[in-house]
Amino acid sequence: MSLLRCIECQSDFPTSQRIYTCPKCSGLLDVVYEVNEFQGGHLTNAWDQRRASPKSVDRSGVWRFRELLPEAGEAEIVTMVEGNTQIWDAPRCAEYAGMNRLSFKHLGMNPTGSFKDLGMTTGVTQAGRLGATSVACASTGNTSASMAAYAARAGMKAFVFIPSGQIALGKLSQALDYGAVVLQIDGDFDDAMRLAQEVANESPLYLLNSVNPFRLEGQKTIAFEMMQQRGWQAPDRVIVPGGNLGNSSAIAKGFHELMERGVIARMPKITIIQAEGANPLYRMWLRYRDREGADDLKLEPVIGATTLATAIKIGNPISWPKAMRGLRWSAGGVEQVTEQEIADAKAMIGRDGIGCEPASAVTLAGVKKMVAAGDVNPDEDVVAILTGHVLKDPDFTVNYHAGALSYVGKTGEKVALESRYANAFAHVPAERDAIMKALGF
Ligand code: F0G
Repeated sequence: MSLLRCIECQSDFPTSQRIYTCPKCSGLLDVVYEVNEFQGGHLTNAWDQRRASPKSVDRSGVWRFRELLPEAGEAEIVTMVEGNTQIWDAPRCAEYAGMNRLSFKHLGMNPTGSFKDLGMTTGVTQAGRLGATSVACASTGNTSASMAAYAARAGMKAFVFIPSGQIALGKLSQALDYGAVVLQIDGDFDDAMRLAQEVANESPLYLLNSVNPFRLEGQKTIAFEMMQQRGWQAPDRVIVPGGNLGNSSAIAKGFHELMERGVIARMPKITIIQAEGANPLYRMWLRYRDREGADDLKLEPVIGATTLATAIKIGNPISWPKAMRGLRWSAGGVEQVTEQEIADAKAMIGRDGIGCEPASAVTLAGVKKMVAAGDVNPDEDVVAILTGHVLKDPDFTVNYHAGALSYVGKTGEKVALESRYANAFAHVPAERDAIMKALGF
């Protein structure tokens, strides 16, 4: 049996109630489960057996773990057999970061190319259980692409609010192709998010941003699947990009539940990396670490957040209280990285034959910085989470390799980035000799 519980005032509400935050105190809600016979080896045996099943709900990297998910009948589940994403060793990236080894779990290998699918399978399933026929979200791109796909699978209407001209083209093209109604808002993500919440409170639209706790239940299975792939041995540290802070919160909850159920003995340190121009959690973390007021600190939004990693261009993240909880549970931390560091790290992830979108590359940039500062030991067992596929934002990649990447700085000035690991194009006349010469023969 699952319940909704406010993380602030601890009030409980039934999961059949259509609420996004606590009706009493506006706190964020968790889905919680009564502790039952599902513990330790019982869980892992059932979960391991399902990997060999021919059924979609068993093979899904989310629903495979359904003992710790909100109840849903098999016919109600909207799944694209998401998850099942690989963990890859990245030796060049490890060397780049100064680590002895480093691995990536690439959530960009999900059906729509980002980790959002893990949350949308549970979110859209819950929408159906509540009788919703239309769903909505604000998005920097991936949430809208994923919601549009899952809504289409479920026969629901999708409405997406995106900051005009500020999302990567791959993501926009997906939302259009999957049939969503796309509203380009003249504002940034924080404006779109505020408006989507206001509209959802006054209309039949069911909101599927990560403020919705059912989304995060799907995303917490990132921790479950990672542990299953590693034979239930936790790494020392898990590195996650931070934008609206839903994913880092969800992963922390996943590890915490595994610990509570006796599946793992300790939590990996959850380490969140933000872009320097969109770093409200990092700023808050510095104040928290310095113990100025400790637990009653509030996040101060960054107005006009800026970064070329548009997925995480967010100044007022909704889930910050849950992200802080995850940091406390796991003795984790927060780091920030520059635009140059993100661009170079992304190119290095490409060199390992893996590739990712810019927001995902903050992970490698963050580890490198933390190793250099002595905050991460080169011997640590670290898994970094890549959140989006390399094809999501081809403009960024091509501009980097063409030496043409630039961003607008805080005072409106254009700042050119160096393409330190560029793989430049060769322009060659359409002649055999010229080609042989260009090839070096
Ligand atoms: N990486 C990618 C590729 C993302 O799309 C996002 C968020 C994040 C990291 C950050 O995750 O918000 O849970 O902290 N994208 C959202 C969207 C905001 O609308 O697609 P977070």
